[in-house]
Amino acid sequence: MKNKYQDLIEQTFFFPQEGYEVIENELYFNKIPLMDIIKQYGTPLKLTYLPKISEQINKAKTMFKVAMAKTNYDGTYTYCYCTKSSHFSFILEEVLKNDAHIETSSAYDIEIIKQLYSEKKLTKNNYIISNGFKREPYLEGITQLMKNGFNIIPILDNKSELDYYIKNVKSTLDINIGIRIASEEEPSFQFYTSRLGIRHKDIKEFYKTKIKPQKNIKLKMLHFFINTGIRDTAYYWSELLKALNVYCELKTVCPELEALNIGGGLPFKNSLGFEFQYEYTIEEVVAQIKEYCNGRGVKEPNIFTEFGSFTVAESGVNIYSIIDVKEQNDTEMWYMIDNSFITTLPDAWAINQRYILLAINHWNNDFKRVNLGGMTCDSLDYYNSEAHISQIFLPKTDNTSTDPLYIAFFNTGAYQESLSGYGGIKHCLIPSPKHVVVDIDENGDYTTKLFSKEQSAKSMLKILGY
Ligand SMILES: Cc1ncc(COP(=O)(O)O)c(C=O)c1O
Repeated sequence: MKNKYQDLIEQTFFFPQEGYEVIENELYFNKIPLMDIIKQYGTPLKLTYLPKISEQINKAKTMFKVAMAKTNYDGTYTYCYCTKSSHFSFILEEVLKNDAHIETSSAYDIEIIKQLYSEKKLTKNNYIISNGFKREPYLEGITQLMKNGFNIIPILDNKSELDYYIKNVKSTLDINIGIRIASEEEPSFQFYTSRLGIRHKDIKEFYKTKIKPQKNIKLKMLHFFINTGIRDTAYYWSELLKALNVYCELKTVCPELEALNIGGGLPFKNSLGFEFQYEYTIEEVVAQIKEYCNGRGVKEPNIFTEFGSFTVAESGVNIYSIIDVKEQNDTEMWYMIDNSFITTLPDAWAINQRYILLAINHWNNDFKRVNLGGMTCDSLDYYNSEAHISQIFLPKTDNTSTDPLYIAFFNTGAYQESLSGYGGIKHCLIPSPKHVVVDIDENGDYTTKLFSKEQSAKSMLKILGY
């Protein structure tokens, strides 16, 4: 009978698969022996595999290039990275090696831009697309960059934002702006219209009465992003067509409009059985944009994207030890991890985000249905279902501390640190784990670097005023 953990994985998925293989009962991730990393650094551990970021950016660029060639698209494609997905310096540095551009969402993001520029990692040719609700410091940072010749396009999130630029940018300085369309939310959502952006039906009039009279302000970009992301659903296609309608309408009065920004929302792989049709979806997006615009006698726009999760999620891995096994009744077995889901994978707790979960060692053990428990006192600090099934299975292990079971959650590189307040105060004061950055050197060998140690008691107490 085949009841080893390895049998289970091989019977459930196509396995081994790109990035994942097992050698002598231990898991290798992109050819990196994870057990060696654990031996060197211990757990809990956050790992960032940098080459994946460049790989993702180039994958998207190629898909758009192919889609544009197939549809004979007469426009350009610009890849922007949405910094809020992960602000770490090593992430931004990797992104910028790939002729990528940046999307910002707050005043402090502008400080990151300035820093990257001073280190020559970004130039004034990089597009800076500034989204978000903007208070004075953010507006001030944006106008400073405008005055210093950066290629910055603030996207108006509301009408009054324009007043700031009119008031604070000299009429002799030409500036470019965009407008975010407030999309309709999914039918099942609790409200109809997104609070982000300006309503469809107001945009043309707003342009004619407020923007057009400003000779130095050019409306170059329309921004359209829906929360649920780019999906092959009737809702997505109907929202895209609404946005294209606004684009074509605006173009009749605003000839300088030339770009459509379709935001982020390209999904990342959350299961070994993940089957999102990237090429098909991107081809369909590009084809629909071209067809709709040309059908209205409008030239197709240059396309911008701001992929956050797609860029960084698949570079991140969370590694834990199973530090205790608790059989609470005949059917419920708990494996306790050496940190917390709430504080290290907040999306798993808050929005039921699922990730690829695999054992790192003991692949030749029998498998067992378990619940994973985090170390905080919160009963919701658990993880017990996968994207494809409402259960999880891991190799059998007992309470022995001599040869513990190690597990990893993959593709955790987006949003988790910013949502959990990396290095800040944590639920039950469970510290941020150490963070290791993995790269590949010129010989094709992997290198590791400790980016940060486990958060210390001293640093937490300092924040708390002790
Ligand atoms: C304006 C905008 N662009 C891009 C993104 C990135 O989305 P994702 O991480 O799904 O690619 C977001 C996410 O909230 C966003 O609000």
